[in-house]
Amino acid sequence: MLIIGAGGHATELLQSMEPLAAATNLFFYDDVTPDLPALLFGRFPVLRSEAEARVLFARDNTFALGLGGTTIRWKIAQRFQALGGQLVSVIAESASISPYDVVLGPGLNVMQNALISSSTQIGEGTLVNAAASVHHNTELGRYCVVSPGARVLGRCQVEDFCLIGANATILADIRVGHNSTIGAGAVVTRHVAPNSVVVGVPARPIGVGHKA
Ligand SMILES: CC(C)(COP(=O)(O)OP(=O)(O)OC[C@H]1O[C@@H](n2cnc3c(N)ncnc32)[C@H](O)[C@@H]1OP(=O)(O)O)[C@@H](O)C(=O)NCCC(=O)NCCS
Repeated sequence: MLIIGAGGHATELLQSMEPLAAATNLFFYDDVTPDLPALLFGRFPVLRSEAEARVLFARDNTFALGLGGTTIRWKIAQRFQALGGQLVSVIAESASISPYDVVLGPGLNVMQNALISSSTQIGEGTLVNAAASVHHNTELGRYCVVSPGARVLGRCQVEDFCLIGANATILADIRVGHNSTIGAGAVVTRHVAPNSVVVGVPARPIGVGHKA
């Protein structure tokens, strides 16, 4: 499997794959960062070009998203699928995912101690980070990021490309419009319009078009 990215989130993703990481044939990909070692942690090869990725994909075409931003995850998914890659999910062993009525899209990252409750849907390419929770009857769109410790309570609807900051709480029955950002630590008590940035307790808009 090829993990796209070799930076902070990619290394956390590697940790979330333990104890199986050591037994998996893992490669990383980064063609933007200068001065990377050839082997990450002295062990995992870092591919530096699409030509190298194509060679790997000829024997194993699975890849996972190892970057933490909403739009970059989407762009990378498009790019590596166009190279013949198959987008797959990485789900930490310690994550708790209800066996009841959960629909998971491809290409997810579900990190350590995340909780995904019953009757939920998580769209393609979404990242549910460590100790974040997504509660009953909630729907998360495609390429969202739920940051560490954030909580999305019951019956919420979070549209595509939303970023929910660390330790934010979205109260039950809230709708968050597409491409919105919820600031770290915010408590969201009202619906959030598309393309908004909201911060604070209770959360209030501060502008449009921002991203973490
Ligand atoms: C909301 C956020 C996107 C705003 O970023 P920004 O557009 O660069 O905004 P700025 O830092 O210029 O701050 C604008 C104002 O909002 C305030 N603000 C920013 N983030 C805030 C937050 N989370 N809670 C309360 N106020 C916040 C700033 O203090 C500033 O106030 P001022 O105008 O009175 O000085 C960002 O601060 C944030 O919370 N990102 C989430 C980070 C995160 O959790 N990442 C997860 C990584 S795993």
